[in-house]
Amino acid sequence: MSVLAGKAKRLLRGVLLMSALTAAMAQAAPRELIIDTDPGADDVVALLFALASPEELKIRAITTVAGNVRLDKTSRNARLAREWAGREDVPVYAGAPKPLLRMPIYAANIHGEEGLPGIKVHEPKQGLAQGNAVQYLIDTLSKAEPHSITLAMLGPQTNLALALIQAPEIVNGIKEVVVMGGAHFNGGNITPVAEFNLFADPQAAEVVLNSGVKLTYLPLDVTHKVLTSEARLRQIAALNNQASRLVVDILNAYVQADMKHYGLPGGPVHDASVIAYLLKPQLFSGRAVYMAVDSREGPTFGQTITDWYGTLEKPANVTWIENGDAQGFFDLLSSRLARLK
Ligand code: RIB
Ligand code: CA
Repeated sequence: MSVLAGKAKRLLRGVLLMSALTAAMAQAAPRELIIDTDPGADDVVALLFALASPEELKIRAITTVAGNVRLDKTSRNARLAREWAGREDVPVYAGAPKPLLRMPIYAANIHGEEGLPGIKVHEPKQGLAQGNAVQYLIDTLSKAEPHSITLAMLGPQTNLALALIQAPEIVNGIKEVVVMGGAHFNGGNITPVAEFNLFADPQAAEVVLNSGVKLTYLPLDVTHKVLTSEARLRQIAALNNQASRLVVDILNAYVQADMKHYGLPGGPVHDASVIAYLLKPQLFSGRAVYMAVDSREGPTFGQTITDWYGTLEKPANVTWIENGDAQGFFDLLSSRLARLK
């Protein structure tokens, strides 16, 4: 082999080694994460799940929004989840008290007047962080390293939409946005075609969709395949700690409405699927599709129109997750709840 060819081979080997080392180091670094949420029964399960996973998720903050219940209660419930997880190091910022344009709607019929069914609530020791969640998003994302921070959106997308409207340049700080929301194959849960988070603020979802951020949706199509069962709730109960007792009591109360309405053998834990996706994406599958949100008044208000077969031949703007490993989800959730007190 010529000297030149030998040198080229050594250089290539060095480059490959460096890229492998870089990739390995990248995997070791926890994901920088902001969780935007409207707790909410399944939100609290998602928060406990995420707060119990500090090796993979560096939670910068929890930002709250009105949705399942009013903002004062979603904010109190986020602080409760933080307290139960022993993670008062994570600040909670309260955000938008109502949607961008539409009249507010709530889901106290599902989540209870306090937004947390099946358990007693109390006033958590630690309060809210100073300042509004929208300003926190603008300040944090504006100063962030390029494309470094992930947003998990577990409720109406009002906070992020307001931040994007006021400071569009914050997209440069966003790595990706992972949303629990929408419905296509499954049909809706608040109307025959619309899922609650989108129905509660479709204009906000449009602002986020049109911002061009990397966007993944976990819709009812997948959350309605990742269902509780008596065995799965026993699996969690067997952990026999405070967190597992809270989750079992919350879920036992929360899933009744969906089980009755859909005639299902168990209920979905919608928001926790977003956290499972961030921790173990291989549990899920989907495809890049073109999607639009209907924000016109009328029977399809809040519907997500998902072009699953590429009929419109428009460029994909979201990754749409439509399948998940249900037992794998509950095994992962259980393993993380076991870490809590
Ligand atoms: O449709 C389910 C979604 O709406 C979940 O995020 C639930 O918490 C409610 O916000
Ligand atoms: Ca929610």
